[in-house]
Amino acid sequence: MSEPMISIRNLTKTYVSVTPLRDVNLDIYRGDIIAIIGPSGTGKSTLLRMINRLETPTSGSIIVDGEDITAPGCRLDLVRQKIGMIFQSFNLFDQLTVVENIMAAPVSLRHVSRQDAYDQAMTLLKNVSLQSKALNYPSELSGGQQQRIAIVRALAMQPEMLLFDEPTSALDPTMVGEVESVIRRVARQGTTMMIVTHGMDFARSIATRVIYMDEGGVYEDGTPEQIFLHPQRERTRQFIQRLKVLTITIDSHDVDALGYIPLIEEFAEKNDIPRSVKNAMHSIFDEVCICILLPRLENPLIKMTTEYGADGQVMVNIQYNGPRFDIHDSDDDLALSIIKAVTTEKTYTYDATRADLPNQLSMRLIED
Ligand SMILES: Nc1ncnc2c1ncn2[C@@H]1O[C@H](COP(=O)(O)OP(=O)(O)OP(=O)(O)O)[C@@H](O)[C@H]1O
Ligand SMILES: [Mg+2]
Repeated sequence: MSEPMISIRNLTKTYVSVTPLRDVNLDIYRGDIIAIIGPSGTGKSTLLRMINRLETPTSGSIIVDGEDITAPGCRLDLVRQKIGMIFQSFNLFDQLTVVENIMAAPVSLRHVSRQDAYDQAMTLLKNVSLQSKALNYPSELSGGQQQRIAIVRALAMQPEMLLFDEPTSALDPTMVGEVESVIRRVARQGTTMMIVTHGMDFARSIATRVIYMDEGGVYEDGTPEQIFLHPQRERTRQFIQRLKVLTITIDSHDVDALGYIPLIEEFAEKNDIPRSVKNAMHSIFDEVCICILLPRLENPLIKMTTEYGADGQVMVNIQYNGPRFDIHDSDDDLALSIIKAVTTEKTYTYDATRADLPNQLSMRLIED
């Protein structure tokens, strides 16, 4: 195998009250497209931030192209020219126009002439279909457009590697696709990348390698197939399985039914659930939970669990309190006909020994 581009050795990062990374060892090869996944707080951002030296390791080393970037006296500006980073929150310079944002680093750090920097910026903008925004300020652009500019700004430094920390998680769902497609294109051009993401479908489709982080470091490292379909270790397995379950609990009459829409949208996006099934999830939530059950229950407690199975089937299980009540005894014919249209294999049971949630309705959503 060729020499690694980056070798991380015995890397530890300790903050006052936590040690998110403990003795991490990792080799990154040129051309790797690494998706980093894992629960919150497992040091994914910390690892990325140390690789371009926004954070200083407590101990250990990071060797980039043979040079230890954790050594005293290391030129951090050169490290950051080589390794660009894209953040969740874009981090563009608000007081500069789009084209000036892209020109700034090449002019000041790489001493490119303003004309050359401008020409390059316009070419890059054209690649992401944003040349018409060159003279706008970032605040005049949508989140998706700002993030495409942030990617272009990083590319203008001709980096050897790009680090993305949840690049689409601050975006309106309608804009996720345009940013992912730009990242995909950069990946195809061969730039080495590490991407922290909660978008599992995106991770699976773009990555050549997936790293699951947990227990203070790299817990499992493998191909997308291995990590998503055949995880070898217990915690990876649990994490992958948990992603596929969405639980929504309603415990009051003052719920904002619209507030649940993003939860379902996000779940569907993460799991690559077809639109028709996602719409069925919305329908079931609205008709069963909000229209039929909620008005009937004096002190409501409704728990809707949606599970996306390995076979691609989506099962919904709704548990609720109150006396025995099968939704089919409801007189809301419209709601019942909507439910009937999107489900199959419905079963209703009442188990009085389950004191808090004795009623249980299970069904499978139909994919049309
Ligand atoms: N500057 C800091 N000072 C103190 N603690 C920090 C600092 N930055 C991160 N931490 C802690 O280190 C741990 C790892 O944080 P990190 O942001 O790397 O996690 P993460 O895996 O990126 O999580 P998420 O998925 O929520 O973004 C957390 O417990 C966090 O609270
Ligand atoms: Mg993070």
